[in-house]
Amino acid sequence: MKILIIGGTGTIGKKVSVHLAKKHEIVIAGRNSGDVNVDIANSKSIEAMYESIGKVDAIVCIAGEAKWAALDSMTEEDFYIGLKSKLVRIGQKYLNTSGSFTLSTGILADDPVVGTTSPAMVNGGIHSFVKAASLELGNSVRINVVSSGLVEDAVEKYEAYFPGHNAIPMDKVINAYVKSIEGQGNGNIITIYDNR
Ligand SMILES: NC(=O)c1ccc[n+]([C@@H]2O[C@H](COP(=O)([O-])OP(=O)(O)OC[C@H]3O[C@@H](n4cnc5c(N)ncnc54)[C@H](OP(=O)(O)O)[C@@H]3O)[C@@H](O)[C@H]2O)c1
Repeated sequence: MKILIIGGTGTIGKKVSVHLAKKHEIVIAGRNSGDVNVDIANSKSIEAMYESIGKVDAIVCIAGEAKWAALDSMTEEDFYIGLKSKLVRIGQKYLNTSGSFTLSTGILADDPVVGTTSPAMVNGGIHSFVKAASLELGNSVRINVVSSGLVEDAVEKYEAYFPGHNAIPMDKVINAYVKSIEGQGNGNIITIYDNR
């Protein structure tokens, strides 16, 4: 398969990319890294990326920003950061028949921590979006989302925010992406949580 991995140089993305590259042709996209540059917050940039790569068999997004801040300090705009629907809306015409989308969210959708009203809302919204979009994508295209707890490789960076959370081993995270891409599931929220 030819697989586009947006965020393929990130903490999770680089491990997933190395694994998938053993069996598949990989194209990596990032804002400032990878084979092609894209800003997933910008529709024009997304369109240009897809045009430059051509058709693929799987589009995987392991990128995204979120605003972590106290509820009192949030603006309305802060709640829109991190929505990924345009990646799917625009990407549909660049997927081969029976292709797939795999998005990424996290445990905040179901088990939020302090300061995460926006990412928790966006993650939960993406879960609902995936379930609904799976009913409408034509051409036998599938869509799933991988929702992980704090991953092993990010513990140092984030553990202060996640007291008592068990880190998720990277091989489990990688397998969730493999399941979405190589399996036949559609509309699934592939959760890898270890606390609930
Ligand atoms: N880390 C965790 O424990 C964890 C757990 C569950 C879910 N998640 C979610 O998984 C995703 C990846 O997490 P991570 O920890 O691997 O992140 P990371 O290490 O910060 O890597 C982010 C990757 O995404 C790219 N990127 C960031 N913003 C982008 C944009 N606007 N357009 C295009 N590419 C962009 C970056 O490339 P450039 O640097 O070139 O822009 C980089 O390759 C995030 O959505 C995160 O919320 C993370």
